[in-house]
Amino acid sequence: MSFQFHNLRSGAATSSSDDQFAQTVLRGLSGKPKCLPSWLIFDDRGSEIFTEITHLEGYHPAQCEYEIFNKQKQAITDILGNQTFRMIELGAGDGGKTQILLQYFIQNGLTFEYVPIDISEGAIKTLVSSLESRFGEGSMSVTGLAADYFDGLRAIGEQSRVRKFVLFLGSTIGNFELPSAGNFVGNLSECLNEGDYIMIGFDLMKHPKTLYAAYNDSTGVFERFNLHLLDVINQKLGANFVKERYVQQGQYNPQSHAVESFVYSTCEQVVFIEALAKEFHFTAWEPMQTEHSYKYTQLEIEMLAEKNGCRIVTHLFDANKHFVNSIWEVKK
Ligand SMILES: C[S@@+](CC[C@H](N)C(=O)[O-])C[C@H]1O[C@@H](n2cnc3c(N)ncnc32)[C@H](O)[C@@H]1O
Repeated sequence: MSFQFHNLRSGAATSSSDDQFAQTVLRGLSGKPKCLPSWLIFDDRGSEIFTEITHLEGYHPAQCEYEIFNKQKQAITDILGNQTFRMIELGAGDGGKTQILLQYFIQNGLTFEYVPIDISEGAIKTLVSSLESRFGEGSMSVTGLAADYFDGLRAIGEQSRVRKFVLFLGSTIGNFELPSAGNFVGNLSECLNEGDYIMIGFDLMKHPKTLYAAYNDSTGVFERFNLHLLDVINQKLGANFVKERYVQQGQYNPQSHAVESFVYSTCEQVVFIEALAKEFHFTAWEPMQTEHSYKYTQLEIEMLAEKNGCRIVTHLFDANKHFVNSIWEVKK
């Protein structure tokens, strides 16, 4: 069995993604209000801090998904049947929850290859090597790709007609606004074949106080995660953000149906970004949005699937119905 790692983010791909990063920061800091998308946070260290978030007791999106996989792994196995398949995970991170499924599939003799994809090279390298230590004796092959979602999917391409099972977990889809989530699912189903499966983890709309508590932990991990964005900009673009002069808070916004995290400048200050040759002014307590996590209703999930080339196979909920892993089949 093989355990491989490929970096698709080197050479021309790196310079185009560096340029995309710089342009996104320029647009985000020039806007009023300032707003930066959360994908910017995910360098190797950002991925590590996110893994700490998934271990927080109060961070229900991760705890619910652990519960769903532990309780419903047989239901997922039944859907996959006994055909060989390729399980592709978009934005795999540390693959912590997925390993519950991997172990169960191996124990039950399923034949499959696992292809985790993530923009964080460190996350994918660590994942492949930890899978090799844990499952090296088993029958599973692993090919980890450090790549953007769709670059990774294109690289896998049409190698064979083996059924694909694409995972997009951790309520990462919530980081998109609703129309962008539609475009994402539409592009995804176009990359797949009739009969392929998709499983997406959605955080469901619930009491705003539960949402507030999930994104404002008392240990400050969320604050460290959001403020890490300033380190990433300093490092990638030669900026001079002083992290200690900012604080973070998250809150549910009923207009956008999302938990939005903001980094607040605690004083009036000017930041210079060398790669953009530009200064940016912050007034005291000026907010800058750094995270957007949309909270879905079941109806919205069903519309998202049906409008974008997919049929709902099943919804797997946790006991409190706080979260759902929705499994879809691609229809052409
Ligand atoms: C919210 S975390 C979820 C991690 C993991 N799936 C989980 O459930 O714990 C999002 C992950 O997607 C990755 N990511 C973000 N944007 C990406 C992109 N455009 N292409 C590939 N991976 C991306 C990040 O590096 C991060 O590991």
